[in-house]
Amino acid sequence: MFFKNANNLLEKELLKEIDLDKIPKHIAIIMDGNGRWAKKRNLPRSFGHKAGVETIREIVKVCSNIGVKYLTLYAFSTENWKRPADEVNALMNLLVEYLKGELEELHKNNVIINYIGDISMLPDICQRELINSNIKTKKNTGLMLNLALNYGGRNEIVRAIKNIAKEVYNKNIEIDKIDENLISNYLYTSNIPDPDLLIRTSGELRISNFLLWQIAYTELWFTDVYWPDFKPYHLYKAIKDYQSRDRRFGNVK
Ligand code: FPP
Repeated sequence: MFFKNANNLLEKELLKEIDLDKIPKHIAIIMDGNGRWAKKRNLPRSFGHKAGVETIREIVKVCSNIGVKYLTLYAFSTENWKRPADEVNALMNLLVEYLKGELEELHKNNVIINYIGDISMLPDICQRELINSNIKTKKNTGLMLNLALNYGGRNEIVRAIKNIAKEVYNKNIEIDKIDENLISNYLYTSNIPDPDLLIRTSGELRISNFLLWQIAYTELWFTDVYWPDFKPYHLYKAIKDYQSRDRRFGNVK
């Protein structure tokens, strides 16, 4: 097992209740509440993001250990550019720090680092670190850590439609061949199965433009806990809940 074992009693107890043969293959997380976590402590918002990175470190390790195959984290949305420049800069710096600091260990532990979204808008250093991390790890076979950066679900769908329209115009695709499968193949997530479980922290009950196409049949799980306070214990709770659900995909039993 990579990294560390469950380290507190509650966590260990809850882990025992999880069926390790039915771990969700793909977990997506809207990591919300960093700003409020910082505000509660009279700290600048960027401290909340810094604390949020610690949670990312821990949750990535746990997901890898219990056999999650894909973990998609909403790290920066197409709407997040509206934030003050110093907060955007702090987030970009944290991304670079995280990749530089974790790459070797993640690689050693078979993790693939991947990204979705239009990264061409990110600072060069971020693009470089992301591309390097991806190149170095893409042949790994363990957990895929999929970072959503300058990502928006609607933007992703618009991009797919434009690309499909070009192919139709160039007579490479017949209109009758356009189906759900084809559209999925034109999304950033073309090589990734749809999420089984979507977690949102901080008490907000919305999707915020995340993976709009992909979550058609995803199980949703919300918690009031702010992202920096989200612990493996909460992840196990979400997975236990997920395992108790009856996924019918529109069918009957
Ligand atoms: C939401 O909290 C969080 C974000 C918009 C950014 C999440 C990014 C990180 C934790 C760090 C950078 C990423 C990596 C991969 C190292 P919020 O600021 O919206 O919180 P609030 O709703 O309480 O204001």
